[in-house]
Amino acid sequence: MTNDTLLLKQLESILAIETDPVANMANTAAVLFNGLSNLNWAGFYVLKNGGLVLGPFQGKPACVRIALGKGVCGTAAKTGQTQVVEDVHKFPGHIACDSASKSEIVVPIFKNGAVWGVLDIDSPVLARFGAAEQDFFEQVVQIFTDKTAL
Ligand code: SME
Repeated sequence: MTNDTLLLKQLESILAIETDPVANMANTAAVLFNGLSNLNWAGFYVLKNGGLVLGPFQGKPACVRIALGKGVCGTAAKTGQTQVVEDVHKFPGHIACDSASKSEIVVPIFKNGAVWGVLDIDSPVLARFGAAEQDFFEQVVQIFTDKTAL
């Protein structure tokens, strides 16, 4: 079994016992941050009153509020599309929370067809995320959405 498959199974079993969004965001961030290599931040932003607000995460303290359309997170939330950024310094409007971050992936989370929040993963390595990682993190978000009462 690959590490990715193992992590997805671990996540499914941990989230199976709870539906609370904060608890499930916290454990999802912990499973990812501790189970994957070359990450310096893993966590959530939740859409509240038209803007993103910091949710549970693992890593250094981060920006608390991000406007819709701003940075990688705000772009994912506004477009509803996963953002895979090979080099964050080349992404217009990238918001640097941790200067160690070099690449990033942000996957939107939907509730009833509307964006509810985003999963944000940062790496200190350039181009850490590609098509395989996009597929993996989209599966993570699918499990989170299935198990959680959003
Ligand atoms: N870099 C993100 C901001 C959030 S931190 O990476 C945790 C962005 O540009 O949206």
